[in-house]
Amino acid sequence: MNSRIPGLYKQDVDERLSSVAERAGLSDDAVRAFRGDAFDATDADMVSENVVGTIEFPLSIATNFRIDGEDVLVPMAVEETSVVAAASNGAKWARPTGGFLTSTSGPIMIAQIQAVDVADPHAAALRIQRLEGELIELANEQDPILIEHGGGCEEIRPRVLDTTRGEMVVTHLLVDVRDAMGGNAVNTMAEALAPEIESITGGEVHLRILSNLADQRLARASCTVPPEELETDEVDLAGTEIRDRIVDAWAFAESDPYRAATHNKGIMNGIDAVMTATYNDWRAIEAGAHAYAAQGGYAPLTTYAVDDDGNLSCTIELPIQAGTLGGATQLQPVAQAAMELLDVDSADAFAGVLASVGLAQNLAGLRALVSEGIQAGHMNLHAKNIAVQAGAPPELVDDIAARMVSEDAIRQDRAEELIVELSE
Ligand code: MEV
Repeated sequence: MNSRIPGLYKQDVDERLSSVAERAGLSDDAVRAFRGDAFDATDADMVSENVVGTIEFPLSIATNFRIDGEDVLVPMAVEETSVVAAASNGAKWARPTGGFLTSTSGPIMIAQIQAVDVADPHAAALRIQRLEGELIELANEQDPILIEHGGGCEEIRPRVLDTTRGEMVVTHLLVDVRDAMGGNAVNTMAEALAPEIESITGGEVHLRILSNLADQRLARASCTVPPEELETDEVDLAGTEIRDRIVDAWAFAESDPYRAATHNKGIMNGIDAVMTATYNDWRAIEAGAHAYAAQGGYAPLTTYAVDDDGNLSCTIELPIQAGTLGGATQLQPVAQAAMELLDVDSADAFAGVLASVGLAQNLAGLRALVSEGIQAGHMNLHAKNIAVQAGAPPELVDDIAARMVSEDAIRQDRAEELIVELSE
């Protein structure tokens, strides 16, 4: 499979779906789901409460991704202009050096059990530590299927927290959740262990819930971009200059949380769009990403540097709590089709895709910011859409869009005039 589909953006929606379906060998069910009408308010009633309807997002495909040696077409659901185009561009610049390389720390989720009113918290924490084996056994009795698949609770870590309401013993369960997001599995284990924790500590257990600061479930991606890939007709800057400005932009984010918040928002534009397209819990990843970014003072989740060959070396690391098994994906045919398109065989592989998309998104955002600015891209894309809507033949779309942008007249009537003028 080759994820390069030049000119995809010039096709109409039906043609585009056919191109993607053919390229990815999508099933008829997936194509039908993408075509629409596969999920109505009655179906949605199974997902949430007090449902009165559904709301649509554009479902787009980001091209050009090569991740760990395999090409991937990436489904993205997002209402913001330029996000999908930017992700596809970022992925294209990484292709000459082989695309993205990813790794993960393994699918380990954390659950927390809060015990209050503990007479001697430090002694209680030591007792919990001593009984780790029994507690792990009890946790694992809750989920034989997870154990069968090689997962399960692996470690118990008691902590003593000094809070404004006095000391508390907070016990962490570290659970390998394999290919699930794992929320249900770890919450069930935490609830099951609560009486035991009460009897060990002599305190009272209140909260039993996963932590979205999933710092034992990290995904990393890296790519290398030759400077010439970063050049653009929009500005008269050498690739090496754009490369250096991107490193400066990263240094700015590293030194300033005001900038780092926006920098990381750019990353999440891509990750959230894939999470939405696949009906996964993007709030969990948002919470985890920002908490992780804040651990040593709020910082960017990516890094940029110039390597020994003069290329831009780009990396990302963040917690990715997403699975390929269970969750709401099965309830939504479009989300299932999106997973079919992604064709990932494990939660770790899915995490690698999400991290790569976040990195591509951030890289493309920074490239735009240090060169023509982001408004030009928005306007170009908008102008192209208007040209296509006005019926411009594919070979004229770029020209008509460029003319409308330079005249500051991005309108259907102007596009129609230009079609006539340029077709003569
Ligand atoms: C816009 O949604 C995202 C950007 O602002 C990200 C950034 O500034 O890096 C372009």
